[in-house]
Amino acid sequence: MTTATKKKTAPAPPLPADTPVLASVPADGLPAQLNYLTRALKTPTIGRVWEDIAEQARDENWSHEEYLAAVLQRQLADREASGTTMRIRTAHFPAIKTLEDFNLDHLPSLRRDVLAHLATGMFVPKAENVILLGPPGIGKTHIAIGLGVKAAYAGYSVLFDTASNWIARLAAAHHAGQLEAELKKIRRYKLIIIDEVGYIPFDQDAANLFFQLIASRYEQGSVMVTSNLPFGRWGETFSDDVVAAAMIDRLVHHAEVLTLTGDSYRTRTRRELLGKNRATND
Ligand SMILES: Nc1ncnc2c1ncn2[C@@H]1O[C@H](COP(=O)(O)OP(=O)(O)OP(=O)(O)O)[C@@H](O)[C@H]1O
Ligand SMILES: [Mg+2]
Repeated sequence: MTTATKKKTAPAPPLPADTPVLASVPADGLPAQLNYLTRALKTPTIGRVWEDIAEQARDENWSHEEYLAAVLQRQLADREASGTTMRIRTAHFPAIKTLEDFNLDHLPSLRRDVLAHLATGMFVPKAENVILLGPPGIGKTHIAIGLGVKAAYAGYSVLFDTASNWIARLAAAHHAGQLEAELKKIRRYKLIIIDEVGYIPFDQDAANLFFQLIASRYEQGSVMVTSNLPFGRWGETFSDDVVAAAMIDRLVHHAEVLTLTGDSYRTRTRRELLGKNRATND
C-alpha cells in the first residue's frame, strides 16, 4: 500500500472531550475533515500543503507545534504575497519600474541613504510626503513607481495617476456634487502619487481642486509628487501664486524633497546608441 492511500484512509483522530460537535464537519476521515475545515476557515494554502508538510514533519521528527507553525507560516506568506499583488494591481502604475532596476550611478544627485530610507515605506504611516523635482528624463517617474511598489510590499495601498488625470477625476466628482465623497474615497489610499505636475498648466478651478486634494491629505495620508518645475515656478502652472504657495506649504511641512540634477536618461541612452553606431560606421 502506498503512503498516499494510507493517508486517505486515515481515521479522524480522537478529539478532546470538550470539543463541540459541528454537524457540518464531515465525520468520514481526516482528509475530508481538513478539506472542509480549511475551506470554512478560508485558508486554502493550508488545505493544499498540510499533507506534504506532514510528510516532511514525519520524516524530520518535528514536534506538533513545529508542524502547526510551518503550515500557518505558509498560509500567511501566501496571503501576504497575494495582498501585495493586489495592491500593485490596484495602484494603476503606468508600468512596473523597480528601484532595483534603477541605475544610481547615473544620478549622483540622488542621495542613496535617503532613497533607501524611503524604500522602507516608513514615511507612509507617518503621512509624510515625497517630492521629486528635476528635468525631463531624469528618472522621477521611475523612482516614484519604484517607491510606490515598495510601499505596496510594505502593506500600504497606493494610487498612481498624472496630475491632469487627478484633476479630471476631481472635476468630474465636483460636477456631480460628490467632491467631498471623492476626497474621502481617495483618503482610503495610504499613498497617492501625482505624476507630472508642471507640464500642463491648470486654470483657476483646476488649481482650486488640486489644492483641496492636497489639503484633504495634509497630515492624514502621504502624497508623492513629481514635477519638472522648481517650487518657485509652481505659480505658473496653477495660474495663482497664492494657491501655489499654500499648497507647497502643506506639501513640504512633513516631506522629503529630492531635487535631481543631471542629464536625461532617455537622451543619454540615445546618445550612447548614436555614439556606438558612429563608432561602427567609422
Ligand atoms: N537611473 C536610471 N536607471 C535606469 N533607468 C532609468 C534611469 N533614469 C531614467 N530611467 C529610465 O528612463 C526613462 C525616463 O525616466 P522617467 O520617465 O522616470 O523620467 P522623468 O524624470 O519622469 O521624465 P519626465 O519629466 O519627462 O516625465 C524611463 O524609461 C526610466 O525607466
Ligand atoms: Mg515622468
